[in-house]
Amino acid sequence: MITLSTLNKYKKDGRKFSCLTCYDAMFAKMMENAEVDTILIGDSLGMVVQGHDSTLPVSVDDIVYHTANVARSNKHALILADLPFMSYATLDDAIANSRKVMQAGAHVIKIEGGSELCDIVTTLANAGTPTCVHLGLTPQSVNVFGGYKVQGKSDDSAAQLINDAKAVVKAGAAIVLLECVPAALAKAVTEAVDVPVIGIGAGADTDGQVLVMHDMLGVTHGRVARFVHDFLSDEDNEARSVQGAFSLFHQSVIKGSYPKEEHQFN
Ligand code: KIV
Repeated sequence: MITLSTLNKYKKDGRKFSCLTCYDAMFAKMMENAEVDTILIGDSLGMVVQGHDSTLPVSVDDIVYHTANVARSNKHALILADLPFMSYATLDDAIANSRKVMQAGAHVIKIEGGSELCDIVTTLANAGTPTCVHLGLTPQSVNVFGGYKVQGKSDDSAAQLINDAKAVVKAGAAIVLLECVPAALAKAVTEAVDVPVIGIGAGADTDGQVLVMHDMLGVTHGRVARFVHDFLSDEDNEARSVQGAFSLFHQSVIKGSYPKEEHQFN
């Protein structure tokens, strides 16, 4: 079974690790068989499962329901679960809602933001709840950003992102997740903190890689982000099976053959 200690050792040893979003028991079992290292019950479920335009309508009860489904089925992966939009706007909310999600089977709580989360991170860590802080493109703030845009492109915003990462780690964050930032910035953050860093659209140099399960199976609609690769129809997935796609993703991340340069932002 993968734990935070496993991921810390992987970082020290330079062994990359895989992460996929998952929302139900059968896919969770296939991810277990494929030895995917970590699973995220992401609030992306609002878009890929519930059909909303953003992650904002997702509730804590939704995350609890899907986390329980996944945790019952997968005994191998470290399980991360999102606290959804506005469910950690106050310290009391963060504590109460983390409790529900951890009791559903999560091992780590993911929250979106920057150094303003330090109090929450420290309080949760002291209460036995590790956090993963999601930086860069944080989809819960889509209305602040005015769309899903690459973050950290200017010198100032890149410096701010590095400072945010250092601050939340100092406050006790166990994992940092970077979404849609230039590859060089993701590399700098990964080297600047001593906790595992997971990337999505953040180049090849983060410690782990995450993709939304539907995207990497080619179950998409409309525009596909440049960092997405369809592992189901990849010719190296000889069985053309879903489990084969999970396994190919896991192996590609470990071997460093995903992501490639064409998947990154500069
Ligand atoms: O909710 C989600 O799936 C996520 C990933 C995009 C990292 O936060």
